[in-house]
Amino acid sequence: MRLSVIGCGYLGAVHAASMAQLGHDVIGIDVDEYKVESLRAGRAPFYEPGLPELLTEVGATGRLTFSTDIADAAGADVHFICVGTPQVHGEFRADLRYVNSAVEALLPHLRSGDVVAGKSTVPVGTAEAIAEAIEATGAVLVWNPEFLREGFAVEDTLHPDRLVYGLPTDDDGEPTADGSKARSVLDEVYATPLSEDIPLVVTDYATAQLVKVAANSFLATKISFINAMAELCESTGADVTRLADAIGYDARIGRRFLNAGLGFGGGCLPKDIRAFMARAGELGVSDALSFLREVDSINMRRRVRMVDLAREVCHGSIVGRRVAVLGASFKPDSDDVRDSPALSVAAQLQLQGAHVTVTDPQAIANARAKWPDLHFAETALEAARDADVVLLATEWAEYREIDPDDLASVVAHRRILDGRNVLQPARWRAAGWTYRALGRP
Ligand code: UGA
Repeated sequence: MRLSVIGCGYLGAVHAASMAQLGHDVIGIDVDEYKVESLRAGRAPFYEPGLPELLTEVGATGRLTFSTDIADAAGADVHFICVGTPQVHGEFRADLRYVNSAVEALLPHLRSGDVVAGKSTVPVGTAEAIAEAIEATGAVLVWNPEFLREGFAVEDTLHPDRLVYGLPTDDDGEPTADGSKARSVLDEVYATPLSEDIPLVVTDYATAQLVKVAANSFLATKISFINAMAELCESTGADVTRLADAIGYDARIGRRFLNAGLGFGGGCLPKDIRAFMARAGELGVSDALSFLREVDSINMRRRVRMVDLAREVCHGSIVGRRVAVLGASFKPDSDDVRDSPALSVAAQLQLQGAHVTVTDPQAIANARAKWPDLHFAETALEAARDADVVLLATEWAEYREIDPDDLASVVAHRRILDGRNVLQPARWRAAGWTYRALGRP
């Protein structure tokens, strides 16, 4: 099939390349010339494991092209909307300007029978408005949310946990004739994953839009739940990692996403729960989501606690102390620093008078662009030179495996703060380190 993918960020670039891998002819569209140039040259404009290989593989087939001109999307059978929906500055709600301008720009190129598939994370009600905006062209909108995780984006796109189609429905809640046709088109797009028995949920627009924010809210709640337990553990001498193991054995609870530490960040979970709260307020049901405010607060408190812990191990003051922060990205295997807990803690420490040196295997350039006043080093050993305290903030494999003796040879004081609960306390203590963590004795 011929597909267009509008927006080539973390979501769209991976989607475009993956769809080409599935055998479709794909044109990726983005207004950012740098991104388009880079993708055209077969280079990923951001760090995502597996994407460079995928771009090389599909590049050789000639099935994947990129353009800054939306007119080049004309003629595609399906147009995927993959643009960002960031948080409005100073408010909780989502900024829909990129979605709206993508739809507006696409409008003159739509033909009757084309399918527009919305993948961006949007407030419920957006799909209905887009469907109305494109109605006169005879194109049909399907809401097809995306659940990929950064760091696993290629795998998640080619082999998703589930596919969701939100179709236009009639008064009885059944798909309209156009909706059923659009469903067949998407079935063809996703023929390969569907042949692997990946579950497909076919529903209406509102449900499909809500599925996405409900999923992210649940994940955020799970993380904040365990971080709330970490607060209890801190005041009782209990160990949150053992607690998570023990409750995680209950299959109804499950151990995944129960890792206590610095909490969640990134371009999705924080802004999605806030946008969801804002939308609930507009719909007059803000009470239904008032718990998300607490989820957000628990999450933010972990960052404050980390700064306090650094002060504590430095005997009450971090002014003039040298702090090494291992990790700048919001999670390992990503160069994304949007709302990164690691960077937020690093910046706070620096603002409060510490001399902070940050390192990261992939995110230094992005981190420097955001916080130019921080100091940066290429390696953990370089960052930790003469440090009074070392803080593991993002659990990259190379930091999890760092040797306490190697690190001890460069620091001024052997103090390690494990912001992600991934180090073995006994090993570090045996090597003469003061080991502290969030939610652990
Ligand atoms: C998240 C969702 O997991 C995806 O399903 C969704 O598609 C995506 O948002 C999106 O909306 O586009 P992502 O932002 O890539 O994916 O990152 P996650 O793996 O969810 O991690 C989010 C944050 O939670 C990270 O900062 C991570 O360090 C933190 N986290 C995760 C914890 O603190 N503890 C855990 O147990 C798990």
